[in-house]
Amino acid sequence: MLRNLMYVVALLPLAAFTQPRTQLANPKMEASVSELMKKMTLEEKIGQLNLPASGDITTGTANSSNVAEQIKQGKVGGLFNIKTAAKIREVQKIAVEQSRLKIPLIFGMDVIHGYKTVFPVPLALSASWDLALIEKSARIAAQEASADGICWTFSPMVDIARDPRWGRVVEGSGEDPYLGSQIAAAMIKGYQGDDLSSNNTILACVKHFALYGAAEAGRDYNTTDMSRIRMYNEYLPPYKAAVDAGAGSVMSSFNEVDGIPAAANRWLMTDLLRKQWGFKGFVVTDYTAISEMISHGMGDLKQVSQLALKAGIDMDMVADGFLNTLKKPLEEGKITVAEIDAACRRILEAKYCLGLFDDPYRYCDPQRAGKEVFTTENRQVARQTAAQTFVLLKNDNQLLPIQGKNKIALVGPLADNGENMTGTWSVAADFANSVSLLDGLKTALGDNADLLYAKGSNVVDDSALDARVSIFGKPTRWDKRSPKEMIDEAVAISPNWSLVVAAVGESAEMTGESSSRSDIGLPGNQQALLEALLATGKPVVMVLFTGRPLTIAWENEHVPAILNVWFGGTEAGNAIADVLMGKVNPSGKLSMTFPRSMGQIPIYYNHKNTGRPLAQGKWFQKFRSNYLDIPNDPLYPFGYGLSYTTFDYKNLQLSGRELNSARKLKVSVEVSNTGNYDGAEVVQLYIRDLVGSITRPVKELKGFQKIFLKKGETKTVEFTLTEKELRFYNSQLQFVSEPGDFQVFVGSSSEKWLQGNFTLK
Ligand code: BGC
Repeated sequence: MLRNLMYVVALLPLAAFTQPRTQLANPKMEASVSELMKKMTLEEKIGQLNLPASGDITTGTANSSNVAEQIKQGKVGGLFNIKTAAKIREVQKIAVEQSRLKIPLIFGMDVIHGYKTVFPVPLALSASWDLALIEKSARIAAQEASADGICWTFSPMVDIARDPRWGRVVEGSGEDPYLGSQIAAAMIKGYQGDDLSSNNTILACVKHFALYGAAEAGRDYNTTDMSRIRMYNEYLPPYKAAVDAGAGSVMSSFNEVDGIPAAANRWLMTDLLRKQWGFKGFVVTDYTAISEMISHGMGDLKQVSQLALKAGIDMDMVADGFLNTLKKPLEEGKITVAEIDAACRRILEAKYCLGLFDDPYRYCDPQRAGKEVFTTENRQVARQTAAQTFVLLKNDNQLLPIQGKNKIALVGPLADNGENMTGTWSVAADFANSVSLLDGLKTALGDNADLLYAKGSNVVDDSALDARVSIFGKPTRWDKRSPKEMIDEAVAISPNWSLVVAAVGESAEMTGESSSRSDIGLPGNQQALLEALLATGKPVVMVLFTGRPLTIAWENEHVPAILNVWFGGTEAGNAIADVLMGKVNPSGKLSMTFPRSMGQIPIYYNHKNTGRPLAQGKWFQKFRSNYLDIPNDPLYPFGYGLSYTTFDYKNLQLSGRELNSARKLKVSVEVSNTGNYDGAEVVQLYIRDLVGSITRPVKELKGFQKIFLKKGETKTVEFTLTEKELRFYNSQLQFVSEPGDFQVFVGSSSEKWLQGNFTLK
């Protein structure tokens, strides 16, 4: 019955989505690629599908030797993690001068949050809720990377993540499909611009397709398993948004989807991605994902390579499976020339779109890097951006911003550590150039700064663990003194302080790939350090460095002010000083829930109600969905973040009580800055679909606006809701909205709002 009433928007799952922008037919390109392919031998076609590792950074163990020789033989389609225009020009020269058909190589890199000018880690960027700024950060990253020879980035990472034990939450935009989709599109636009062939835009690669963020127990590379309903409604939207925004390439994930590893999953790569979503770009595997399918139990290298090609994979990253084994299954009739041709064509088309056939050295102008990389202007944008990402978690008695003349003690393992400021995947960064908090505060306070410094503790208190969390050359500067000696040193200077700034948290490499943690509290001896500092009776401001939500319930209870600064990039120290000193008023809002304790994980705001929901405001009710020992609600909810000023929401207005496919609904609210500082606020709109043919989340983000209000100023913020925002995938995976009653919430977080009601007719 319900089905007759609902707006059936798609008869086939996902067919309603529009065609991606950059994937319109291009007869000239097709003709030119066809002409070239006529000349290619089978070996040369397979060669285009091969992406061996090269250069300075490796993320695995595969050995890619003899690259130059392979290039000459036409056995390489591209290389990655090699940089500088000069070096890339040399390698490109081998391809275009010494290989038979002179086909240029494509050069990729993990440019995921800036290039040499490093921006805050992606999870931090998402906390800015500032799409224009995020797009700009990707634009600058593309500009710098392309000036250094790179034309393809393995970004954006759009995996929805709800388990902060997983270290790679730092690389994405958090837990929400709506926010994640908006950011995915903004980043694609930033990287690819309007014209992929200009020399300062680069090809994006949306990853990791799909569901990588749902690894069981938060353990990297682990199994994922979920219903299609959850997949379509909660996990797939950001990938789809990236494809719709014109992403030119997609990277397959390591995990299995419905029991089949993504790299061999034909439903995922062909039925969904290509047939339903209309993706016309190419798909590259993740690092050795093809050969890893041997361990998954999918067969030997020949078998898994064959499965990958048949699934719709075009390029093999590092596994050498396509290169070395595809001929045999071709002879046996298990794969076809047409399948190899299709993959080869897609890769050649990407090279065509990048303008590499016109000029293989398009991204190798030796003059550009000197002028365009790590410029003062780019660093300035990185500094402004970083300050927008910080989230003020607590600020009792307006301890912040730092006012008047203070004697500041800067204490903590991350205070004097520029190298760690860039966070994970800062492969082009010159660590020595990033600004530590100590340096940032010194500059802000001037020459006669009353600034004392003591390390106070190591990041972790076990030297073996310390080695594991600084493996990629971001030193934690392990101090051999005992925890007590370090704390004593810090406390001994206490008579001279009026304020303590405690720079605590994780090291940069405690999040990122292969960096899952089983305990996401403040590591090592850092809580003991905080206890000792608090015991002096002096006010303590905690500056928290992290790449994931941490369980900091104790800290929240005892420390009067907490500013979460993530890993802010090259300009982190200056940006933190800007915020601590009140030059910039913090406005970041969490894009991922902070749990009270590990036991609440996975925890996310857009959960279902269950048949036995806990009553509002209650901690425990027998036979209700809750815990005996902790409340259900998180420590800090999605969308949460304070400001030095206060914002008041009033007068929620709906333009009507009804909405239909023709009639939109305007939702407006008055927001006033009622405090003592000018500041920005992220106004958030959520809905709840009260009755559905499938159970619906208790809240879903459907809009947000970041506004700036001078103190005393009031603005009316208006959102438009259409029938489109109310759609979801039903149990037949049809993208529909269903008539009925809805609630709408507008407020400053997912837990603080004004509420209205409307009906979809
Ligand atoms: C990661 C990818 C990355 C690739 C290339 C892999 O280990 O999972 O995110 O793009 O390496 O560096």
